[in-house]
This record gives sequence, C-alpha cells and structure tokens, in this order.
Amino acid sequence: MKKLIFLVGMALPVLALAQDPVKDKFIRELMSRMSLEEKIGQLNLLTGGEATTGSVVSTDVEKKIRAGQVGGIFSMSGPAKIRRAQELALQSRHKIPILFGMDVIHGYRTVFPIPLGLAASWDTGLVERSARIAAQEATADGIAWAYSPMVDICRDPRWGRIAETSGEDPVLGSALAAAMVRGYQGDGKYRGNSSLMACVKHFALYGASEAGRDYNTTDMSRIRMYNEYLPPYKAAIDAGVGSVMASFNEIDGIPATANRWLLTDLLRKDWGFKGMVVSDYTGVNEMIDHGIGNLQTVSAKALQAGTDMDMVGEGYLTTLAKSVKEGKVSAAEIDAACRRVLSAKYDLGLFQDPFKFCNEERAASEIYTEKNRVFAREAATKSFVLLKNKNGVLPLKPGRKVALIGPLVNNKENMGGTWAVSEDRSKSVTLLEGLKNTGAEVFTARGANIYSDPVLDAHAAMFGKTTGRDNRSDREMREEAVAVAGKADVIVAALGESAEMSGEASSRTHINIPENQGELLKALVATGKPVVLVLFTGRPLTLTWEDEHVDAILNIWFAGSEAGNAVADVLYGKVNPSGKLPVTFPRNEGQIPIYYAMKNTGRPHSGNPGFEKFRSNYLDAPNTPLYPFGYGLSYTTFRYSAPETDRAVITRQQAATITVSVSNTGHYDGEETVQLYIRDVEGSVTRPVKELKDFKKVFIRKGETVKVSFTVDVSDLSYYYSDLKFRAENGEYEIMTGPNSAETQKVKLELK
Ligand code: BGC
Repeated sequence: MKKLIFLVGMALPVLALAQDPVKDKFIRELMSRMSLEEKIGQLNLLTGGEATTGSVVSTDVEKKIRAGQVGGIFSMSGPAKIRRAQELALQSRHKIPILFGMDVIHGYRTVFPIPLGLAASWDTGLVERSARIAAQEATADGIAWAYSPMVDICRDPRWGRIAETSGEDPVLGSALAAAMVRGYQGDGKYRGNSSLMACVKHFALYGASEAGRDYNTTDMSRIRMYNEYLPPYKAAIDAGVGSVMASFNEIDGIPATANRWLLTDLLRKDWGFKGMVVSDYTGVNEMIDHGIGNLQTVSAKALQAGTDMDMVGEGYLTTLAKSVKEGKVSAAEIDAACRRVLSAKYDLGLFQDPFKFCNEERAASEIYTEKNRVFAREAATKSFVLLKNKNGVLPLKPGRKVALIGPLVNNKENMGGTWAVSEDRSKSVTLLEGLKNTGAEVFTARGANIYSDPVLDAHAAMFGKTTGRDNRSDREMREEAVAVAGKADVIVAALGESAEMSGEASSRTHINIPENQGELLKALVATGKPVVLVLFTGRPLTLTWEDEHVDAILNIWFAGSEAGNAVADVLYGKVNPSGKLPVTFPRNEGQIPIYYAMKNTGRPHSGNPGFEKFRSNYLDAPNTPLYPFGYGLSYTTFRYSAPETDRAVITRQQAATITVSVSNTGHYDGEETVQLYIRDVEGSVTRPVKELKDFKKVFIRKGETVKVSFTVDVSDLSYYYSDLKFRAENGEYEIMTGPNSAETQKVKLELK
C-alpha cells in the first residue's frame, strides 16, 4: 500500500488511457442523433426520495424520464421499482437506460461498522471484502452506482462526518480507499452483475471544514493539500474508480463544484481521470448562497469546471440550453459531459442490458444472507478498539452476573450508525440480545436518556432512528440503574452517542459523553463494582474522566447489523480485540485540531511533563492526546524490539529492509498492527515529526516472537516540496516502528 503516495501528481501511462473504439463509435452515433435538450437530460440526476439530505425533491419524474430528461436516479431501490423506472426510460426517444445510484456506505442491507470503525481494523482485505459484499447486495437490489468511498481526511472530531471517513492519515486512508474501490468495482470491467461503479467523495478537502462545522469553508496551502489531503482521492483514481463527487466546500475561494483547477486541471489533466464527475446534493444550486451567481451562472460555471452531472437541483436541466443559446456555454462542453455519462452507462453494460441489475431472484436470495451476517460479525469485532483494561477486567469470566446499563442497550435502530440508508434495522442485534445469546445472566436498566435536554435528544434522533426517550427524571433512571447494578458482579455501561449524533450535519462543539450519561457513569463507578464502558461513538470523544475512573473501555463505534453478537464475542474473549485508532482522541476540545503528524515548530515542547513558558504548549493541558493515532490494546501484551536496518545508507536505486521483532508476552494469542513511521530530519521544507508509511497486521501466538519486515525506498522518503514537485532530498531520515504513533523506536537511514 505504501507506493500509493508516490504516484500522486504523476500522469497515468498513455497505455492506461487507451480508448475503446467500439464504445466510442456507439456513443458518437448515439449522440449524433440526440438534441441539445436530450444531452442535457443525461446530466440530470434525481432522487427517488428514499433518503434525502436536502429539501429539494423533483416533481413530474415519470414525465421527465419519458422525455429523456433524466440521466440518473438515486435513493430508489428494489428490482421491481427500478425495472418500472427503467421501462419508462426505454420509452424515451433514444431508449437510454437510467443509472441508479445509492448511498451504499458501509454495507447495504447487511450493515458493517461505520467507515471510521472499519478503518480501525487496519485490514485492507477486510475492508475490500466489506465493499464487495455491499456491492453484491446492492446490485441484487437494482443499484449500479454507490456513493462511496468517502475518503476525506479529517483531523477535527467536531465534524460529524468524521464517522464516514477513514480518519486522519493519508497513507492509511489511501490504502483503504483503494481497497474499497476494488471491492465495489471488482476488476472494473463490470462483467457479471455483482460489481457496481464506485464514486470517490467528496472531492476535495471536505474534511477540513473550519471549526468542524458541516458545509463550512476550507482553506489550506497547496503543499499541505498535496501531501496530506489529496492522496486518498488519488489512490481511488489510481484504483480505477469510475466516478468522483465534488464536495460542498470551497477551495481557494471557489466552490469545488465550480472549481476548474480542481476538477479539470488536477483531476483530469494531472491525474488522468477519465470517468464522470457528479455534484453533491444540490451542490450546483448552493453556489447561489456561496455568492457566485444566479442559477444560470452557477450551472454554467459548474459544467465548465468539469461537473458532469447535477444532483437533484435541476440547474442544468433548466438553464443550460439557455446558456448555449446565449453563447455562455458551448455545445462542445455539453457534449463532453454527456459523453462521460453515457460512457459510464456503457461501461456498466446498461446499454446491452438495462435490466442487468433487476433480478428478483437475486434480490430474494443474495441480500442479508447468513454468510454476510457472519462476515458483519467478524468485521465488527475487528473494528473495536480496547482503550483501557485495568487488571485484566476483560475478558469477562463466564458465569459472572452482568448489569448491562445504557440508553441504547436494546435499541435496534441505533446499531448500524449513520449513513446506513438501506439497513434492515428490525433485524439488528442489540447488546442485550448479544449478551443473552451467550447464555449470560444479564440484568438491565436504561439508566439515562442520550441527552437530558429533550431538544438535544431530538437532535440525536434523525431518519426515524428514535432514541426511545424515557420520560422519567434523570435521577429516577439513575437510581434504578444503581439498584440493578447491585445484583451483578460486573457493570457493562454502554454509553456515548446515538447513531445520528455523527454523520452529515451532526457537528458538535462538546464531544463528550453527554453530562447526564456521565452522571450515570459516576454513580455506577461509585458502587465499587468493576465497570466496563462500552462506547458507542461516531467520532473521537473526550474521555479524560472515564479513562481515569472506569476499569475498561471498549470503543465499539457503531458496529452494524451484528453489533450485539460482536460485542459479546469480544467481551467474553471469543475474539481478542485488535483494532487501532485511525484518528487521535484529544483530552479536550481546545486541543483540536490535533493529529499525530504535526510539525515540530521552532519552539517545541521538550516532552517532559509540565508546562514550559515560551514553548509551544498550553497553560492548562498537555499537547499530547488522551489516546494517540494507531493506539489500541489487546487482551495480550506485545513487546517490540528496536528496529534494525540492513543498510545505513541507501541510494535512489536501493531499498533498505527494516526489521522489528514483536513478541507476544501475554496470555492470549492475538493480532497486532505493526506501524512504520518516518521523519525527514533536515530538508528544504519543514516536515511532520512523524508520518505513517507502512503497516502490517500480524497474528502472534502467546509466547511467540515474529520478525516483521518493511521495505523502505526513495518513494517512502519523497513528498511534495513548495514547488509541488514530488521528490526526495539526500540526507538523514529517521525510521520508526512501534505499536502506535506515540510509542516508537527509531533507526537512522541516509539517502545518498
Ligand atoms: C452527501 C453525500 C451523499 C449525497 C446523496 C449529500 O448530502 O453529502 O455524501 O452521497 O447527499 O445522498
């Protein structure tokens, strides 16, 4: 996975761009018969209304389809419905099939952990398989196009959409972006009917929204953009992703949807992308509010920048013909966009068989299968991150009585997490069900609402995912919970966020466990019984009090359809947790943005405990996070040797092999993700104190030692300089290995 970054900014070899003459001829002939209006119709993407994130929904859809004014529809599912819509399209003059899309984000009907949770597995094979299964289920239900992977780098946990990301790191993010594209698209040829077109989003930099507020402005230097934020999008392009979604935010003062530098110069010219670009939901119209023109102007700007399809807003449909007549947009510009949309449909095989994905039998037999649920359970266990485990309180000993306390312990609607629009919530396994399935004696109480304040509680329940608010007072619920805890040997407090407290338009300024739940936790800790905090969350939370006072913390994110069974598997030690944080957990919100790959500054803090005047630090908190990037415990323990290199000096033609010994020194077999970081000690531009370059997940039996080797060559030492050229400078580098970004040991390497 580590060579991905090396390719950023380099044009693809000419061979990869070879055209398909048969396809070209087909599209050319088709387009020669199409009117301007029909071509514009292909650029119109409507919502079927099953899940909407904006207020605009089209009317007269049937009429528009027959008139050839609809190129795609999303948020409509099921072979019967899709077949009906496709039949209407075949009644239009040129019988051009519709492209059906959907937000297939972390599973389809069978739901896997939220993307941030999947990223915590650091397992590219697992993530690829999750996307493959999602594609199999979605295509069986009529879908040809998935709005995933979402690869925005995010270093601000206030932003709710961090849940949909792979976290803060470009190398981990790139590896997972490519894995997802492979999973969705297979080999990209769309043979058979179980692969669909992926759509990498949101291009670009959406994860850097100021103040973590959704849809907000982004602003960053090009050098940071190239080194830190763009690589995952590029990795998806290199993996052959068929489409790109423009982001809502602006870049250099121009909204991404109308940013020609972004969508044409960078994406198409530099990166060689040949596929289709779609706006985000009403992304074209929203540029009126951004303040760059009226609907006709922003529609023209978007098209000319390189946005081919207009999602929902119908700005293209209603203004582009006029713009052509007035000479503001050329017919050739419309043609280019139309050609890309038709080309995607051609590649997917829709012209050959518009009903390729309309197969009732498949829908009945390939969705939500036992096999897929087994995988969902495995994926969930691999996403969990053990943040604390004092005195080995976990795994739980069988036979001990458990008090399972929390507002969501038996709430099916909130197991899947955000952006699981096709999930079958009625079948999700809750924590209570999961623990009971083990035969454990479980007492339960709600203990608290998600929020005490009914207004905030309502914000935490969107898309019909109710939090099951209880009208008793906080105190009454707490007292009941403490009484229930009295009957048990161990308390499992499942607290945190509801599913919709993260995700789109779910930004928070306080990223804590809400106060009333915190009070409950304090009361449970005061009983003196061992307390295991099982954390529901779509983002890093501030857990300083919790880290000090509870015995164990297992972060389960939102784990999907099999959440409860997976939690039971890990709590009872059937599976040894191996997840590692793909994102830093701060001590408090004032540290945000906080990420491991920071710059040193000219006045770095020494690293010794305590505040240092006239150094870069805070009066009231250390610089260090509560839990660093890459961190996660296991039921066993691992010991790392210092890394060794087979050569102290490499040239541009050579590679060094870096080897580290990892011993399992505990009492359980376990998996460990060994991480490799580098630092350029001296260069012509400043560099982060540490950058992940590679990682390997290894299984080590108790008592055994394995040697883990990494290859480091010039590509690993290269990055973008101020001139935006990708290269490596001769000189000294530090190569670091360890179990997380904070506990590394180093060896020197020179490039000569
Ligand atoms: C989101 C996208 C999503 C689209 C379609 C938008 O609001 O930003 O991520 O794909 O809606 O549902």
